[in-house]
Amino acid sequence: MSNLMQSDILQQLEDLRQQAITALTSTSTTEETRAWHSEYLGRKGRLTGILRSVGAVSPEERPRIGKLANEIKTALEEALQERQTAIEQAELEAARNKELIDVTLPGRPQTLGKMHPSTRTLREIADIFATMGFLVYDSPEVETDEYNFQLLNMPPGHPARDLWDTFYTTTPDVVLRTHTSPGQIHAMRQYAPEPIRIILPGKCYRYEQVTARSESMFYQVEGLAVGKNITFSDLKGTFMNYASQMYGEGRKMRFRKHYFPFTEPSVEVDIDCVICGGKGCNICKYTGWLEILGAGMVNPRVLEYGGYDPAEYSGFAFGLGPDRMTMQKYDINDIRYFFSNDVRFLERIG
Ligand code: FA5
Repeated sequence: MSNLMQSDILQQLEDLRQQAITALTSTSTTEETRAWHSEYLGRKGRLTGILRSVGAVSPEERPRIGKLANEIKTALEEALQERQTAIEQAELEAARNKELIDVTLPGRPQTLGKMHPSTRTLREIADIFATMGFLVYDSPEVETDEYNFQLLNMPPGHPARDLWDTFYTTTPDVVLRTHTSPGQIHAMRQYAPEPIRIILPGKCYRYEQVTARSESMFYQVEGLAVGKNITFSDLKGTFMNYASQMYGEGRKMRFRKHYFPFTEPSVEVDIDCVICGGKGCNICKYTGWLEILGAGMVNPRVLEYGGYDPAEYSGFAFGLGPDRMTMQKYDINDIRYFFSNDVRFLERIG
């Protein structure tokens, strides 16, 4: 009985070796070899299963079984090792082939960003005024009612406030600035009684109907010169110089009387249309003239608010609209393109 048992087990072990080797040759992935290992050599695997019946064999016969079992175990482990190495190699090879790079293919073109046309205009303006000694001064986009209106000679209830309705914050009296003019007060209060020659570029906000010519967010460039003996002739000379650098020599200019609460006297300045040369076209609305800025001599009260004695000091100020200037320059018929994030627009501008 025990002899039969021993040969049975030896046979089972040999069968197991055969089956295991056959099964191993059909594995082709790391996962499959792992499954194979647990089926044949794992703690609950078939080899352990067979060895469990060794208890039924007489003690003298056990060593032979044990020896064969060990031999099979070692042989199978070696075979598994070999198989795994071969599979890993094949997997690596497959991954390499998949990621193969064809270095002869042309590279993908990089799309380069471009400067926004309004930014270009802003820089041109800054460069031109730099030649006349104007520094760039930064001032906040969020202002108090006092700076945006009151210190510019527009007390509460002043009718001119209606022209510059804005966005109000949840903090009382804190508003988004409607123009760059409040920056005049910041600069004067910082520099008084020294003379000033600055430009203030930046964004402004207005609560108004958005149309092809008007946005609720747009740029302005403010200018301010304060000192002793500054006259309207300085204002005129500055603009003549600016216009010839910006639009070319020999531009015609006209000054129209206007009203701003913070300047006195106030003007609007036009140049002959750069597109049609004054003959009349749709850009100048067939008038032959293009408005380029609002300006005037700084109102004595505003000088005083800024910390200058108006009996001793005078100054001129102006406000340019770079977005509308850019529209004229590049023949853009709708201001809304500026913030619509359409790359085709920037590509067209070139
Ligand atoms: C002013 O804002 C004055 N602060 C300018 C000024 C400064 C006058 C200093 C005198 C002394 P006005 O509202 O006209 O003025 O605006 C000036 C320019 O800003 C306009 O000529 C226009 O080019 C531009 N602008 C005004 N509103 C808009 C808008 N909604 N969208 C685009 N550009 C605008």
